Amino acid sequence: MRNSRIGVRPIAGAIGAEIDGVRIGDDLDDETIADIRQALNEHCVIFFRDQHFDAAQHKAFARRFGEIFIHPNYQGMQADDEIITMRREPGDKHIVGEDWHADTTMVAAPPMGAILYAIEVPPYGGDTCFASQYLAYETLSDGMKQTLAGLRAVHSDRLVAGPTAAKNAVRSTKVREDDAWRETISTHPVVRTHPETGRKLLFVNRSYTVGFEGMTEAESKPLLEYLLEHGHRPEFTCRFRWQTGSVAFWDNRSAKHLAVHDAGPFRRVMRRVQIAGDPVY
Ligand code: SIN
Repeated sequence: MRNSRIGVRPIAGAIGAEIDGVRIGDDLDDETIADIRQALNEHCVIFFRDQHFDAAQHKAFARRFGEIFIHPNYQGMQADDEIITMRREPGDKHIVGEDWHADTTMVAAPPMGAILYAIEVPPYGGDTCFASQYLAYETLSDGMKQTLAGLRAVHSDRLVAGPTAAKNAVRSTKVREDDAWRETISTHPVVRTHPETGRKLLFVNRSYTVGFEGMTEAESKPLLEYLLEHGHRPEFTCRFRWQTGSVAFWDNRSAKHLAVHDAGPFRRVMRRVQIAGDPVY
């Protein structure tokens, strides 16, 4: 096995590592990209510090890992559909991503990952937490694993976009709420097999999963609530403190995440590019 060209320093027992020796704006060679992908597969989320790159370089780096995913609920809402700028202004009552979630799971092939770059961060507050969904699955009892085998969950975007979600009145980052917006629904297995590592993981999240296939939402609720809460036990998580120029690159299959809504009187501006993923098996 060849030596890695990058430094990889875990930041918690379960998930997350800081990467040294990479400048994202550079024209990185294929070996370095392979090392980054390996670190992502191993640690579920990786972090880079003191990075300086523009939007074009951001997209070029993302493209080394796959096609750029266009988020249907932000399409036409910002200057470039391939980029979502997440702006939190003082006084915002809500922010994007404040519940434990994986991104955009209402589509049939949810993004494999996202690369989030800190442009302006508060002096304190505004951290992001991540939770390993490998551990969430592996720590379930054999009986629960048997119950979940073959079960499919319904994922919808109705809680986070569209007129009834009514997000735009309470936050600076605007999402589609127009009359032409339509709910998108997909079903995915509750236990997913990661297409690269082959490991099983728990694939439900609070922003999008509304129930189980073949059951009412009321019937689904007790088990779904249990799984949602279990999925972010503290020992499955890490918490990232942002600085200007920090980057988080998460595997949207194996990690859930949550943006902590505690930036008080401060602005927070982040630039995100998502990478297309595979249908869920
Ligand atoms: C997101 O859910 O992509 C937002 C994460 C963050 O702003 O920390």
